Amino acid sequence: MATETILKVTDLCKTYITNKKQNNALKNVSFNISKGDMVAIMGPSGSGKSTLLYTASGMDDATSGEVMLDGENIAKLPKKKLANVRLEKMGFIFQQMHMLKNLTILDNIILPATEAKSKKRTRKQITEQGQQLMKRMGISEIAGNDINEVSGGQLQRACICRSMINDPQIIFADEPTGALNRSSSDEVMQMLTELNRDGTTIMLVTHDSRVAAKCSKVMFIVDGVIKGENELGNYTDGMNIRDRERSLNNWLMEMGW
Ligand SMILES: Nc1ncnc2c1ncn2[C@@H]1O[C@H](COP(=O)(O)OP(=O)(O)OP(=O)(O)O)[C@@H](O)[C@H]1O
Ligand SMILES: [Mg+2]
Repeated sequence: MATETILKVTDLCKTYITNKKQNNALKNVSFNISKGDMVAIMGPSGSGKSTLLYTASGMDDATSGEVMLDGENIAKLPKKKLANVRLEKMGFIFQQMHMLKNLTILDNIILPATEAKSKKRTRKQITEQGQQLMKRMGISEIAGNDINEVSGGQLQRACICRSMINDPQIIFADEPTGALNRSSSDEVMQMLTELNRDGTTIMLVTHDSRVAAKCSKVMFIVDGVIKGENELGNYTDGMNIRDRERSLNNWLMEMGW
């Protein structure tokens, strides 16, 4: 079966200038992500993983390069148009994208839907979808809670619901399990792999080879350059996750992990 490219990144560069010093955080990075992929970005701290996620998703401007999402170069779009493409086609699970304090969890989840322009849904339909997502993620009981009245794992699952509210084609996640204990991390990965099986493409950053072993592809980045890619193939139930993790760890060692 021919795979369709959803995200095509070509010669992406990002240079930060701090205290008059240039820092080339991404150096001509190119890669393709196919529809239905679940890609993990791994690499040492400071290697450019978050920068890659921000620039590939239009959260931050690239210095140069091309980012084609679904056939459209988002690196060239005017700000307003980009904001709408991001709302309607992408979902985000970023640690610093905190939920708003004076809204309930459910209201936080449906916020991106009330902001999206072209999705013609009533407030009632949007609320129902939010409730369905919460049910699916097993957090229905916290719908009316404030964000400081829930656990870290629950909050992260709420972030997944929020990222899904506009039925995105692709979800970008920066260390979605980074702050969680092992069982919450497993739960969050279970949710993400299910969404992926239902057709949502996922690109996530992780330090955890247990998380990456559930992905279909791993890209290893060092010093702003993709040093290697490992095609693991889709993870399905019944596969031995320990075997996948072991072979991934061997590859990561070869990469200098
Ligand atoms: N907003 C910024 N301004 C200036 N420099 C930055 C900024 N964000 C990141 N950098 C620099 O760019 C490089 C890549 O940073 P990035 O945050 O992408 O790394 P990372 O791989 O996500 O690291 P970590 O695993 O620690 O999260 C680093 O040298 C970092 O100091
Ligand atoms: Mg980072």
